[in-house]
Amino acid sequence: MTTVDIDAKIPNNVGLADDRRLQRALEGWLPKYLRWWEELGPAAFKDNPVYLRTAIDVGREGWANFDHVSMPDYRWGIFLAEPEPDRKIAFGDHKGDDVWQDVPGEYRADLRRLIVVQGDTEPASVEQQRHLSKTAPSLYDMRNLFQVNVEEGRHLWAMVYLLHRYFGRDGRDEADEMLERHSGDADNPRILGAFNEETPDWLSFYMFTYFTDRDGKYQLASLRESAFDPLSRTCDFMLKEEAHHMFVGATGVGRVVQRTLELMREHDTDDVHPYGGINLDVLQKYINFHFSVSLDLFGAETSTNAANYFAAGLKGRFQEEKRDDDHLLKTAYRHVPEATDEGIGAREVTQLAALNETLREDYAVDCQKGVDRWNRALAEAGVDRQFALPHVGFHRNVGTFRGRHVTPDGRMISDVEWHANVSDWLPTDADKAHVKSLQHGVTEPGKMAGWVAPPSTGIHQKPVDFEYVKL
Ligand SMILES: [Fe+2]
Ligand SMILES: [Fe+2]
Repeated sequence: MTTVDIDAKIPNNVGLADDRRLQRALEGWLPKYLRWWEELGPAAFKDNPVYLRTAIDVGREGWANFDHVSMPDYRWGIFLAEPEPDRKIAFGDHKGDDVWQDVPGEYRADLRRLIVVQGDTEPASVEQQRHLSKTAPSLYDMRNLFQVNVEEGRHLWAMVYLLHRYFGRDGRDEADEMLERHSGDADNPRILGAFNEETPDWLSFYMFTYFTDRDGKYQLASLRESAFDPLSRTCDFMLKEEAHHMFVGATGVGRVVQRTLELMREHDTDDVHPYGGINLDVLQKYINFHFSVSLDLFGAETSTNAANYFAAGLKGRFQEEKRDDDHLLKTAYRHVPEATDEGIGAREVTQLAALNETLREDYAVDCQKGVDRWNRALAEAGVDRQFALPHVGFHRNVGTFRGRHVTPDGRMISDVEWHANVSDWLPTDADKAHVKSLQHGVTEPGKMAGWVAPPSTGIHQKPVDFEYVKL
């Protein structure tokens, strides 16, 4: 059992008090972090008391506390899941060996890179979402936004802890750079492309938390398999918090669908834009956009880096240990998509080479579940259409489909045909302007903006009209 020191300046269960050097270093990073939060964290309502969940423990019963907190006073802590006794490496060249409690010299650079890339996404999303509190469709939603934001901040702490604790001077420099790169900054942007786009409205926020946070889930889940045990335990705990972020996305999109259906019925029309709703075909275009940019985050179909990380034991597959194979993947084969001038085909490669594609497919299966739920609402309302995830080749910028045009149903088409039809497939300027026109902050407890239905229940057994943010 690890002991939780909840009253320390930096709450933690990693024995910070016993390592004065590390403690001093992290306490030195804390004011830089707070300055970053002040400058690039939530732009409005930043000091109001918010009904937030704070991680306080990692045990099975009750790991979080709920109360009104002003965000600058949020207790960002460092928590690793309980160690698994006698844990062994589950895959790759070191399979069967004891997991590592320290970083092997030969993998230092690779591990640092993996941690930095993951860590960089956490503050990036806070920056992307910083203006959304001004237009929150309800106090319930504003609270959820802030919950996601403070937890992404805590995820940054999780990665910064690893950098400081295990990577010496280089790690400390990397931790500082996490606060120097900024989303969308022309000179010093965030590492991954998708994290440099502003989240411009609440529909995009719901889509982002559904599709892009879910990429995070899959990355964290494969890092949880890591032979580097502290990384594994960190990610394990982060996944607990991540689940709520995806809940915000899944229910958020679901509530928009529900509201659209209500307006369609009420006004007996498919076009609910005049009545302040968002049409189903526009929602489909947002799904197309966010799903496709999130697919890019998994990288090219085949990857030497991913193969090396796997062979070294640094990053596994989703639920590695539940898989029934040799966990080496050097002599097992699979097909990956391949786009050529002839069309979309496939080529056979080792499973080791195709790990990105395997993770991307696992991710897409997970994405489909929410789509199925939204479709049930359409079916129940007697609406004769369904949402669908677009083909893996649609609107892709990474890998074999880069520079090709593929329709949502998977047909490779010419440049001319693409441009003639793209307004049916991706949000147009007019679609975005309409969504934007609906963004007005609603701050009366229990009231909702007109384009989104209320949630079916509140947070932590509180009613929907609870004062989630005190104004
Ligand atoms: Fe996160
Ligand atoms: Fe998240």
